[in-house]
Order: sequence, then structure tokens, then C-alpha cells
Amino acid sequence: MHAMWASVAVSWGENASYVDTKGSSVAQAMLDAAHLRQGEHVLELACGPGGVGIAAAEIVGPDGAVVLSDFAQEMTAIAAGRARGRGLANVTTRELDLERIGYPDGSFDAVLCRDGLMLVADPATAMREARRVLRPAGRAVFAVWGPRERNPWLGVLFDAVTAQLGVTVPPPGIPGPFSLDAPGALEALMAPAGFTDYAVGEVPAPMHANTFDEWWSVIPSLAGPLAHLLASIPAEVAEAIRTDAEAALADFGTPDGYQLPGVSIVGVGRR
Ligand SMILES: C[S@@+](CC[C@H](N)C(=O)[O-])C[C@H]1O[C@@H](n2cnc3c(N)ncnc32)[C@H](O)[C@@H]1O
Repeated sequence: MHAMWASVAVSWGENASYVDTKGSSVAQAMLDAAHLRQGEHVLELACGPGGVGIAAAEIVGPDGAVVLSDFAQEMTAIAAGRARGRGLANVTTRELDLERIGYPDGSFDAVLCRDGLMLVADPATAMREARRVLRPAGRAVFAVWGPRERNPWLGVLFDAVTAQLGVTVPPPGIPGPFSLDAPGALEALMAPAGFTDYAVGEVPAPMHANTFDEWWSVIPSLAGPLAHLLASIPAEVAEAIRTDAEAALADFGTPDGYQLPGVSIVGVGRR
């Protein structure tokens, strides 16, 4: 998984502004839930290009500090470059796995993780780790994707790949974007991790694409293990997937481009 995410880091870097725009409603909901204050110390997990952590760094200010972390050094390098580009001197980066957060207990006032928790083999361990590194009254905020059928911006790609290759994508039992989409899934991780004070809610996360080609040029290239798969199949099969996806997305075409629904689940727990 590490190597597969590393291999799509270039696309995440090239499309970082796009990811920021698309993820803006979720980022805002996460920052609101985290109640960050100036001077606080924040850890972003599975940061990718670091959009959420960079926004947090602007809130905690020069007396605060933010660590942007990901298990792929290729991702943290992009996040570091973006933080530097914004002149943020309070940001550092670190390579770490969500399931083994290499910091002592009580290191942070807040932990933020957008679209990472559902990708790990053992999200219960990751949730316990997030709570462990929080100071008393610290907040952990996780965002995961809601149900596949309510996220056609990505679901149609999975459906088209499944139809053309005749295999379920992602394979059963393998973590993927929709692994924690069931009602109560986040709560079921937060309570056993020791969060007694937690809240979970939905956040609309729609996507706009001016054209089908715009969608096709961005989403498959960001899709981690799926991007890897698409790059390795015969061109005619990839073309058939593209054709199926275009037909499925037609339902969402408007005179103003494609308006694709999406929904995230955001959970906040206080230590
Ligand atoms: C869907 S991207 C989300 C990136 C970013 N959080 C955002 O919302 O823009 C998932 C990220 O999780 C990272 N990742 C996946 N599994 C991980 C793990 N076990 N530990 C740390 N990072 C992980 C990947 O390298 C990738 O950068």
C-alpha cells in the first residue's frame, strides 16, 4: 500500500489545489470541530498534500506548531513544499503510519485525519493511537467517506472497473475509501478507543467538473491502488472503463458541467 500511494504522489501534488477545493467543506467542518486556538500543537495524519494541516497551521499561528505526517515520504515532501510556499514556519513533516504514531503520549492538542482512517488494516489501533498522543482535553477529528452510492464522483469509477474486469473493487476484506461508510462505524471505533465525549455527523462534499475529461484526468490518477491498476491494464480495457464511467456520470450533467454528489462522515472525540 505504501508503494502504491507513493506512486500516485506526483498526481496528488499536481492536483493539490483541486483536492483543496473539492475537500474544502470537509476541511472546514474538521477545523470547526477541532476548535483550534493560537499556540496549539497539531498532528495531521495521512496528510497527502497537507491541505487540512496547512489550514490548521494558519489558525494556530507562529506560537503553535503543526506536524504533517504520512507513511509516504513522497507525500510529506509535497506537503512540506506547499507549507514553505505559504511561508509557514510553524510546520514540520514526519513519515509515520497511522497504526504506529511514533510520538510520546500526550504530545498534541489536536489530531486531524481526512480520508485516511478507512485505508488502514486496523483502524481500531489507529484510533487508539490518535487518542494516546492527545493531551487531556485534546481533540481528534477524523473524516471518512460516506456510502459509495452517495459518492458517485468516485463510486462510478469503482463500478466501471468492477464491470470491465469482472472483479469486485476494492477486493472484499481490503480497506478502501468506503470501508467505514456504515452508519455507526466511526462511533464504533471511538468508544472502545476511550473517547467518552464524541460526536459524529455528515458533511456534504460534492464535486464539480466542467467536463467529463476533467473528471477523468483527475480522479483515476488520485485513486491510490486503483490508479496503479488502471495504469497496468491494456489500453482497450481502460478505454471501456472510461466509456462506462462517462455513461454513468451523464446522469449528473448540467448546463454548467457535472455536479457530482458526495458525502463525508466527520467524527470528533475529546480526550
Ligand atoms: C485519500 S489520500 C488523503 C490525503 C489527504 N489527507 C487529503 O485529504 O487530501 C490518503 C493518504 O493516506 C496515506 N496513507 C494511507 N495509508 C496510510 C497509513 N497506514 N499511514 C499513514 N498514511 C497513510 C496515503 O499515502 C495518502 O497520502
